[in-house]
Amino acid sequence: MDDGELDVLLRNERYPRSAAYPGRWMVDGGMGPNPVWQAEALAEVMALEAGMRVLDLGCGAALSSIFLAKEYGVEVWAADLWVTPDENLRRVADADLEDRVHPIHAEAHALPFAEGFFDALVSIGAYHYFGTDDLYLGYYSRFVKRGGRLGIVQPGLVAEYEALPPPHLAPYWKWDFCAWHSPAWWRRHWEKTGLVTVEVADQLPDGWRDWLQWNEACDQDSGTPGREEAQMLRTDAGQTLGLTRLVAHRN
Ligand SMILES: C[S@@+](CC[C@H](N)C(=O)[O-])C[C@H]1O[C@@H](n2cnc3c(N)ncnc32)[C@H](O)[C@@H]1O
Repeated sequence: MDDGELDVLLRNERYPRSAAYPGRWMVDGGMGPNPVWQAEALAEVMALEAGMRVLDLGCGAALSSIFLAKEYGVEVWAADLWVTPDENLRRVADADLEDRVHPIHAEAHALPFAEGFFDALVSIGAYHYFGTDDLYLGYYSRFVKRGGRLGIVQPGLVAEYEALPPPHLAPYWKWDFCAWHSPAWWRRHWEKTGLVTVEVADQLPDGWRDWLQWNEACDQDSGTPGREEAQMLRTDAGQTLGLTRLVAHRN
């Protein structure tokens, strides 16, 4: 598929800022539902001001880091475990952002920062890999200043289920989807610590449609990784699956 056709498949009026970025760049760097759309959706409900120091934890190919630095003028530490800083620095240099996006290799439980170093912490499509542990927030939240915000977006459920998978999703279900949780689950998971106050806990409006659109575009472009997940999302039609968004501030 040529780049123009891909741009057409990825037109989405819910994300006007993301529309300025090439579809090919997003597809080449995406590791889950479009991280650039998710970053824009997070920034809608999480005030980001120019000059703020932001941690993007589990940034993957650093697309969200580049987007946030460009669109909101923030300085971003793009931290990831699987994608090397060498690879991410190339993308950052291509975007002309070497002074404002700093790629680092980091494991979520061994972050090389001082307490209160950041004005905001974001994590897109990644927090559920390490953040479902009851005690993790106590470690993670110390890196943001008191009053500073923490925001996450990732695949999640509309509500919690007694038994998983919901029967209509059984053909598609993978065991690690057990880390996908509802907005209410995440709200309680964070608030029960007393360390943060949750301001927003919702599903992205039409998030499942965005996720499906993304997977269909990836599928039509290269056949992977979108096909089976797209079928699952079409079958579900937003009954069960979506993108969970949470914003809190540190108490
Ligand atoms: C599905 S990818 C999403 C990447 C990117 N944010 C995106 O949306 O395209 C999940 C990311 O979480 C990161 N990750 C998983 N476990 C991690 C850990 N323990 N510490 C740091 N990063 C982790 C991986 O390196 C991976 O890049």
